[in-house]
Parts: sequence; C-alpha cells; structure tokens
Amino acid sequence: MLWIHPLLQFAALLLAVHVLLMGINRFRFQHLKRKCAFNWKRHVLLGKWVAWMWLAGLVLGLYMAVHSWGALGLTGPHYQIGLWMTPFILVGLVTGFILQKPSGKRPAMALTHGAANAIAFVLALYQTWSGVEAVRLLLLD
Ligand code: HEM
Ligand code: HEM
Repeated sequence: MLWIHPLLQFAALLLAVHVLLMGINRFRFQHLKRKCAFNWKRHVLLGKWVAWMWLAGLVLGLYMAVHSWGALGLTGPHYQIGLWMTPFILVGLVTGFILQKPSGKRPAMALTHGAANAIAFVLALYQTWSGVEAVRLLLLD
C-alpha cells in the first residue's frame, strides 16, 4: 500500500511533462507569435488527469503517513513542499476549467494558468527527488 503514492505521483509527473510541453507550445503561439500546434482537447483531458492525480496522491500520501506511523511530517521538506503544491494545483485547475471552452482571447488568465502549473511542475520535480529519499528511508530500510 505504501508504494501506491510514490508510483501514482511518479506516473503523474511523466504525464505532466507531456502536458507542460503542449502548454509551452501554446505559450509560444499566444505570446511569441510562433507557429505551433496545440491539441486543445488533449491538453485539457490530460491536464485534468495530472491535476487530479496530484491531488489524490497528496491525500493518499498524508493518509498513508498517518495510517503507518501515526504522525504527519516525518518526511520533513517532502511533506512541506507537498502541502505547498495544493494552492498551485487548484489555481491551475480552476483557471483551466475557465479556459477550457475556447471563447476569444484571455491572455492574462492563460498566463496565470501556465505560471501556476509550471510552479506546481517544478515543485513536483523536487517531490520526486525528496520522494526517492523517502522511499529509501521509509520503504526499503
Ligand atoms: C499540470 C497540468 C497543466 C500544465 C503544466 C498546463 C500548462 C499550460 C501552459 C504553460 C499553457 C500556456 C499558457 C499561455 O499561453 O499563457 C496552458 C494553456 C492552456 N491550458 Fe493548461 N496546463 C495544465 C492543465 C490544464 C487543465 C487541467 C486544463 C483544463 C481544465 C487546461 C487547459 C488549458 C487551456 C484551455 C489552455 C489554452 C488557454 C488559451 O490559450 O486561451 N490546462 N496550459
Ligand atoms: C506531486 C508530487 C508529490 C506530492 C504532492 C507528495 C506529497 C506527500 C505527502 C504530503 C506525504 C506525507 C508525508 C509526511 O506526512 O511526512 C508524502 C509521503 C510520501 N511520499 Fe510523496 N509526494 C509526491 C511525490 C512523491 C514521489 C514521486 C515519491 C517517490 C519517488 C514519493 C514518496 C513518498 C513516500 C515514500 C511517502 C511515505 C508515505 C507513503 O509511502 O505513502 N512522493 N508525500
């Protein structure tokens, strides 16, 4: 059971690389006026998967920690940064829901969306690095 959280979050990260690359293409088209393809429906669908996987994985990580060790925060920075991801994931999701139906240009909303998700992505990279340490200390030892 303890392995579900790390595996789920790692899978979400791999999917997030793809979703982020699509988003970067959209950014180049919108703001840098470059010709770039953007599969709107695919980005929205897979983006939702990433956001919900991150949120579900976060809750699962918390649940597993309490269930197994009776305490939160044993992983230190992995726990702290994990909680810090929540507002960025939520802003990315809410703005994504507003943007999902194409209806004219909303560059400021798109920028907010892209920035919130890019920050969540960088934090997820850190979570993977610190998560590997948590796997070594808590699951393998
Ligand atoms: C981790 C997940 C996600 C990442 C990394 C991501 C990243 C990005 C980035 C960088 C952009 C370009 C922003 C810009 O041009 O200023 C973008 C655009 C967009 N995203 Fe996402 N996104 C994610 C999830 C979602 C979700 C969940 C939805 C829908 C519910 C969504 C819908 C959209 C739409 C519709 C656009 C185009 C907006 C426009 O140009 O008007 N994205 N995304
Ligand atoms: C979006 C990414 C992630 C978030 C938001 C997140 C968040 C969390 C949180 C909040 C906890 C509870 C920690 C505590 O109470 O001290 C936790 C536990 C844990 N995390 Fe993560 N984490 C993420 C990714 C990862 C990854 C990629 C790995 C491994 C490579 C990992 C490995 C672990 C392990 C081993 C635990 C102990 C509990 C368990 O195994 O279920 N995490 N995580």
